[in-house]
Amino acid sequence: MSLMKWSNELSVNIIEIDNQHKKLLDLINALHAAMSSGKGKEILEDIFSELIEYTKTHFSFEENLMGKHNYSDIASHKMAHKKLTEQVMGFYNEFKSGKIGLPVIIFSFLKDWLITHISGTDKKYGPFLNAKGVS
Ligand SMILES: [Fe+2]
Ligand SMILES: [Fe+2]
Repeated sequence: MSLMKWSNELSVNIIEIDNQHKKLLDLINALHAAMSSGKGKEILEDIFSELIEYTKTHFSFEENLMGKHNYSDIASHKMAHKKLTEQVMGFYNEFKSGKIGLPVIIFSFLKDWLITHISGTDKKYGPFLNAKGVS
């Protein structure tokens, strides 16, 4: 069973970004599925680190795109990315060192920050970039 489903409400109306967000959801779901089926710690770590790497790639992609088009809210958006990255890295390190397992809180956290960030922060650049011809 998947943890989260993509819905059009999450669309920022830019195909490449929507695809990247979908891939992030897929990775979160993969992590959840691996945990639910009792996969070992190494496998969970691999998926978790893939998720983190892809998150960083995605954040850089967005930041470059916003920078290229002189998006006025870029500074606060970058700050939000930095905070999210630090939070998720903190969880990852705690998990890796065995301090915590992969409890539900991590998933709700990932889910909340992803969904909240996409629908609260990412969506704001949609109309701006669309007006610049990005779609
Ligand atoms: Fe995003
Ligand atoms: Fe973002």
